[in-house]
Amino acid sequence: MHRAATFQRPVPNPPRTLSIPAIGDVYVNTQKFFLMISEELRCNYSFDTEGRFMTGFLDGVNYRRGLKNDILMKHVAANTSKTRRMLSAAEKQRLVDDVLARVRYLRDFVASEDQLSPWLDAILSWNTHRLQGEHDTFHAIYRPISILPPDQYLSVVVQAAEGCSWNKCTFCTFYRDRKFRIKSLHSFREHVQQVKHFLGSAAGLRKSLFLADANALIIPQKRLIDMLRVLHEEFPIGQSKPGFDYVLKGIYSFLDIVGAEKKTLADYQELREYGLKRIYIGLETGDNTVFRLLNKPGSPAECVEAVRTIKAAGINVGVILLAGAGGRQYAQAHVQQSLRTLKAMDLGVGDIVYVSPLVTIPTDEYTRTMDTHSVAALHASEVMAQVDVLKGGVTRARYGGPKVALYHIEEFIY
Ligand SMILES: C[S@@+](CC[C@H](N)C(=O)[O-])C[C@H]1O[C@@H](n2cnc3c(N)ncnc32)[C@H](O)[C@@H]1O
Ligand code: SF4
Repeated sequence: MHRAATFQRPVPNPPRTLSIPAIGDVYVNTQKFFLMISEELRCNYSFDTEGRFMTGFLDGVNYRRGLKNDILMKHVAANTSKTRRMLSAAEKQRLVDDVLARVRYLRDFVASEDQLSPWLDAILSWNTHRLQGEHDTFHAIYRPISILPPDQYLSVVVQAAEGCSWNKCTFCTFYRDRKFRIKSLHSFREHVQQVKHFLGSAAGLRKSLFLADANALIIPQKRLIDMLRVLHEEFPIGQSKPGFDYVLKGIYSFLDIVGAEKKTLADYQELREYGLKRIYIGLETGDNTVFRLLNKPGSPAECVEAVRTIKAAGINVGVILLAGAGGRQYAQAHVQQSLRTLKAMDLGVGDIVYVSPLVTIPTDEYTRTMDTHSVAALHASEVMAQVDVLKGGVTRARYGGPKVALYHIEEFIY
């Protein structure tokens, strides 16, 4: 497998300012696991410790590059309208060429013995072609990583299972391209080692470990514990480990409601002892009728029970609501019942409520189901207004202090 060449990283410095002809002040911020360069605070770009381009802000546009070499652009216009999309191959090439040309220019003004030099040389060892090779390596290791909770975008993802064991919610197309499969312990260990190798020294940039795909915690307890043991052998989780200069704060994972009910309090307690910190579960709606229209497994009442069991074991939850679900006809019931259901969960500090604005396409199953029931969809602006109502409802009620945040599936990149 191809691997980026690592280099000796200099210890972090306070940010430095270089005075560069034809540019002006260039600020260089060398952190333990990334390097950020900022030209006159007008534009900036960052790289990981292997020298791979990570983020940029050029001409008022934000760019974020994922591990499989996708680049997401996001632009907020003066009238606050947002554009976000993945760049085409040609656009990626132009951006990467531009960023690398800037670094090459800067390199000429930095002495070879300067501790910035190895960073710049590592960055310049990449080009569009080599970065695109990361795409192939990524796909040799992973099935597509379709979605993560927003606080886990900067995690190390390992796929203990592939796909979703239910895969039938009308609105969700994330895992339709694959059959649910649990990895054997042997292939899981191999996968974990490949992931480690692929990330290289840049793994230190990551904060946590995410056990994918859609409901990996459904894995029978014994196999799951064996898998968590592998993770502890391979990564420093929750505590430092010889040979690593970073620590991952814990293990995080999705679970669906029915999957959650299959585990006992004792199972969850055991998972907590192995470092499981938070479980993300899609309630989507507290309204029974809307819930059935979404074809979610289980029910809102079962979701409350599952969440209470998980929390009793000392594991936090992330509960996801779907703004816009049930369209105009069920809007009021959806909001009221969702807030009521959340209240019954006894959420607290360390828990998160995510609100995800529903994204549909005319041909999807959700839209067909709504058409069959003559339910009109909300306009995009009404969906966003419902996001605010749901977020405001959680904030006002406090429910013991969970965080509440937007979950925007169109802004996901790993
Ligand atoms: C992997 S799933 C959640 C975990 C688990 N599989 C479950 O269903 O409980 C991730 C979340 O993405 C969101 N999602 C899926 N499809 C969506 C869509 N079309 N529009 C907006 N959000 C969507 C849902 O809120 C869902 O809970
Ligand atoms: S929402 Fe969750 S349970 Fe439903 S299909 Fe998507 S991943 Fe599976």
